[in-house]
Amino acid sequence: MKRSFLSFLVDQWSVVPPVETTDLSGKTVLVVGANVGLGLEASKHFARMQPARLIIACRSEAKGKAALTEIKQETGYNGCELWIIDLANFASVTAFADKFEKEGGDLHILVMNAGILQPVYQSTTDGWESTLQVNHIATSLLSLLLIPRLVAAGRNSSTPSRLVLVSSGVHHYVKPTKEVKTSSKPLEMLSSAEWCIPEHMHSRFFESKLFNLFFIRALTDRLQSITPLSAVAVAPGYSYSQLRRFWYEKPTFSFVRIGLAIQERLLAWTSEQGSRQLVFGAVGGRDNEENMKGGYVSVSRLVEVADFVLSDEGHKMQDAVWNETIDILSSVSDKIAPIVQDYLVVPDSSTN
Ligand SMILES: NC(=O)c1ccc[n+]([C@@H]2O[C@H](COP(=O)([O-])OP(=O)(O)OC[C@H]3O[C@@H](n4cnc5c(N)ncnc54)[C@H](OP(=O)(O)O)[C@@H]3O)[C@@H](O)[C@H]2O)c1
Repeated sequence: MKRSFLSFLVDQWSVVPPVETTDLSGKTVLVVGANVGLGLEASKHFARMQPARLIIACRSEAKGKAALTEIKQETGYNGCELWIIDLANFASVTAFADKFEKEGGDLHILVMNAGILQPVYQSTTDGWESTLQVNHIATSLLSLLLIPRLVAAGRNSSTPSRLVLVSSGVHHYVKPTKEVKTSSKPLEMLSSAEWCIPEHMHSRFFESKLFNLFFIRALTDRLQSITPLSAVAVAPGYSYSQLRRFWYEKPTFSFVRIGLAIQERLLAWTSEQGSRQLVFGAVGGRDNEENMKGGYVSVSRLVEVADFVLSDEGHKMQDAVWNETIDILSSVSDKIAPIVQDYLVVPDSSTN
């Protein structure tokens, strides 16, 4: 599907369907990146559905505690727990997964929402460009490490578990160069300081959101169809949040900031409206479960992804990104290889 600027406007000006609701009693929900913006609003929606456990994972204890208080005050739900994680640090992600293995029990819904828009090159302590690590590599790491808990929950429940990755409609606008498309290590290339010149960093957020979609589709191709887990990508729509803080937190005047403020005023949904897409990915479409598997949700319905994703070139790049991601993650955690071995199968090439 091609997404024109007009269809973007139509989506942003259309009435956002009401939030999906269901009974979450007895279920465990984990929202990563939940102290502000879409993750916080989605957590409030989940809290109102009374899950047995609602875990919000945040990188700042102070901000996380403030979110806990807000969730409790606005929803009256008492079962919310704060766990700490920093996706810019692989050791923090693996420690979080270890803690979950010991204390988390079965996991029915995982919403991988944390993300950054960092248009200037910054390296993490692990040596990766920060947006690539936070939005794609570490997001994939935690998703894979929690697959055993998600599958266990699905086996003990009447409905499959859900893994939701927050992607974006901006994946439509990625135009990878030939060098990146044909590289066997696109992540290494995109992450290098030499590559991350300002001209290339403009599209970094977009690329990371394309990789979220690749991950969900590649994972779905590799999960056996009987596995009680549906992996879903969602586009939250252009929404008010702190995502564009890079420009708003600058002490100096900038035309970009004024342009963003006008654009948001004209087009943006509230964080609450955006969060409805995350909730739809987590609990919606139950009457269409087979199509939700590997699906892409926008404006509370399944829609087709960008033509590039469906093309031969897109499939080749998706495979290269998947293979490289698994290689990287296998060197970060010795639990990745057994999870791939036990839960995933080599996809039938005819499905591509
Ligand atoms: N808003 C939009 O228009 C829009 C459009 C398309 C896609 N999205 C996606 O929606 C998701 C939510 O974004 P948002 O708009 O709600 O932005 P936001 O208000 O900035 O929220 C992002 C969340 O991610 C957390 N986070 C950032 N880096 C992290 C790290 N290293 N470790 C753990 N948590 C981290 C933030 O925590 P801190 O507050 O501590 O930084 C915050 O809780 C993101 O994946 C974003 O890419 C948003």
